[in-house]
Amino acid sequence: MADLDLSRIARESLALLPTPIHEAPRLSAELGIPVWFKRDDLTGLGLGGNKIRPLEFLLGDARARGCHVLVTGSGAQSNWSMLAALAARRCGLDSIVCFYGDAPDEIRGNLLLQGLTGSDLRWTGDASRASVDVMIEQVADDLRAQGRNPLVVPRGGATARGSLGYLNAAAEIAQQAAMLGISDANLWLATGSCGTQGGLVAGVAAGFLPQVTGVTVSRPAEECNRRVLELATGAADLAATSAPTPAMVNIIDGYIGPGYGYASEEGNQAAALVARTEGLFLDPPFCAKGMAALIAAARAGQIDGPVIFLVSGGAPTLFVQDGAL
Ligand SMILES: Cc1ncc(COP(=O)(O)O)c(C=O)c1O
Repeated sequence: MADLDLSRIARESLALLPTPIHEAPRLSAELGIPVWFKRDDLTGLGLGGNKIRPLEFLLGDARARGCHVLVTGSGAQSNWSMLAALAARRCGLDSIVCFYGDAPDEIRGNLLLQGLTGSDLRWTGDASRASVDVMIEQVADDLRAQGRNPLVVPRGGATARGSLGYLNAAAEIAQQAAMLGISDANLWLATGSCGTQGGLVAGVAAGFLPQVTGVTVSRPAEECNRRVLELATGAADLAATSAPTPAMVNIIDGYIGPGYGYASEEGNQAAALVARTEGLFLDPPFCAKGMAALIAAARAGQIDGPVIFLVSGGAPTLFVQDGAL
């Protein structure tokens, strides 16, 4: 396995790394396969989560390009937007966050925490998620017209540069797996905007991980396949590592439930099983659905080797069962 050298790429240090990997013995016994947890809920900024890793590279880029304000957007309960605003503050940048729809009457979950970041929050007044993309560009244009230099990041932070965070994580996991004697593990995760899986698939191409399986909680599988490969290819390009192939992209569909951001019945059951066996809380929109797919695959005898399940965070939405992400 080659070393990964990202030293020439600008990066801010935001996460407490490496995050732990540990066994899940009671869940393993329940499912009949060895299951391990990679604890990226413990990345250390805010309440943790996967988005801190891409933000290290995105804010490194902001520093390198002399940007003083971050512009991004999402739904009101997005982990991404809250953490992006928080990370921007930590690096001394202002932040403007665009949300689709209208400001809700009840301020809870990520929107409550977002208030603490002191970001400038804007609402599109339009219920479509895509309205955010338009507003982000408008805000950025206005800032440029005022002579400011914004760092513009799309929903979810899903860019090739952001995916470097999980290429780096793949190298970290490879080292930990070697030390713990875990071989041939399938890295299992919930996939939304595809940036996380993109980075991990770049890690497969670079020889750090044997297999990655993403459970889509938001987009159709076909769209995920395309986006993951595109982001993985972009990250590998930036890092000068081997290019990924389509065969490295595995997406499982069928676990979105009532919709993106909404808890599902299978997800709730999966989260309850993990809470009762391992004392770990899985967030309803992402990890709970990813775990539901893992439980179903294990019970159907479709997997027999070890699985490393990425606990990707989302603690603020544990208290919001009907959030708009
Ligand atoms: C807690 C959590 N897990 C998983 C994901 C999925 O990551 P990605 O958007 O990179 O696919 C997200 C995305 O927001 C998230 O907040």
